[in-house]
Amino acid sequence: MDEKHIRILRDLGFDVSEKELKNDYWIKRGADALAITTQDRDVYGCLDHTRGDGVRIYDIEGTEYLDVTGGVAVRALGLRYKPYLEFEASINDVVHELPGMDFDAIPQTLLAEKVASITPGSHKKRVVFTTSGGRAVEGCMKAAMDLSGRRRFVGFRPAFHGRTGYALALTSSNSKHKNGFPQGVDVIRVFYPYCYRCPYGQNVEDCSLECVEALRYALEVEGNDIAATVMEPLCGEGGLIVPPAKAVKGIYDLTKENGAYFMSDEVQAGMGRTGKWCAMENHGVVPDFISMGKAIGGGYPMGASIGPAPMFTGGSRHSETFSAEPKMALLSLWIFKHLEDGNFLERNVELGAYLQKGLNELKDKHEVVGDVRGLGLMVGMEFVKDKKSKEKAPKLRNSIVKNAVQKQKLWVLGAGQNVMRFTPSYIITKENIDDVVERLDRAITESTR
Ligand SMILES: Cc1ncc(COP(=O)(O)O)c(C=O)c1O
Repeated sequence: MDEKHIRILRDLGFDVSEKELKNDYWIKRGADALAITTQDRDVYGCLDHTRGDGVRIYDIEGTEYLDVTGGVAVRALGLRYKPYLEFEASINDVVHELPGMDFDAIPQTLLAEKVASITPGSHKKRVVFTTSGGRAVEGCMKAAMDLSGRRRFVGFRPAFHGRTGYALALTSSNSKHKNGFPQGVDVIRVFYPYCYRCPYGQNVEDCSLECVEALRYALEVEGNDIAATVMEPLCGEGGLIVPPAKAVKGIYDLTKENGAYFMSDEVQAGMGRTGKWCAMENHGVVPDFISMGKAIGGGYPMGASIGPAPMFTGGSRHSETFSAEPKMALLSLWIFKHLEDGNFLERNVELGAYLQKGLNELKDKHEVVGDVRGLGLMVGMEFVKDKKSKEKAPKLRNSIVKNAVQKQKLWVLGAGQNVMRFTPSYIITKENIDDVVERLDRAITESTR
């Protein structure tokens, strides 16, 4: 952080001196002041909010990291992407304090039309913009209840859909998120299709879609009056799992047989990350409802609930204060156009395959890498005690993440109990990926020594 930015803090009334620019100092102050529960302060330093470019981020001590989290899938175009910053500067005079749910403004309508046009299905759609992924999920859930007159949902284990209200009721990726909080809505929960660890003990070759049959049975015995089945196209937080298309199709068909809506939660996997605007398209299924978040806002808090018209049965049925205010809507429209013009979706497929190839080489080399899987630039690596037993190795995963961050300067996150997740920004290059693989190789070697 340079003198200018220290002065800005000083002008705001905070006398931050250069000698205080230490990770330990700000980590401790953060832990005292913030009620955040997901920070792993043992692993990550305090980020410098004044530095960073593309896939390079810095902590306040000046250490440079290679980022493969993409801001947990938020930064499609990396940090401080020049054309984006230039566009943002060009709309600085836009009035952005216009409450989007109460009054119409052109940018929000154009964005709704854009979102409806890139999401699968030619049916008439409507869009509600939100300020987070969780709220986007909840908007869809409320609309599904409103339109169907039903109250019950099908959800999966593991799954992540958010940490408030109805979204939390669907979430099942970590008991820490759930313990002590009431179940906001009735959920029939079945296993997420997970071939590496088939919950029904099957092999891929002998699979008779037991996961689909388990849902059929659950609906027969628990009640089939479901409003919607809510599914992540790839299970993200729960362990970066890629379901087989035939299982997703089976679950979709069963949902339809029971007269319910099918909803795809695209908050993490959507926005072209997997090579399709909606990752569910990879499975050949057209969802009725779609929730979007993260990358759609280009770093600003935005989400979208997309559903079949009329979506809500009448005025004032659903609303919140903020909703794709003009500046954010324009930025989002710019991101869509830029991703289209730059063929980023095709590029994501190619780079994702390149990343998986590199990670598979590490799988061949290291006994503790059980599985590598993904679609486009959403990839996971699962750590096990050994390949034969496939016993989960959560502690080892944690120490590899810690080594990767602190020693190899690779900014990476875990997912699920024993998986490492790669959701880099779309601007990552093959050279960057080679570098990622080398750093990770060292982290695994040093952690298993
Ligand atoms: C699939 C999915 N749905 C919903 C959410 C919740 O989004 P938010 O944290 O913006 O509420 C997340 C966040 O990681 C997610 O991955």
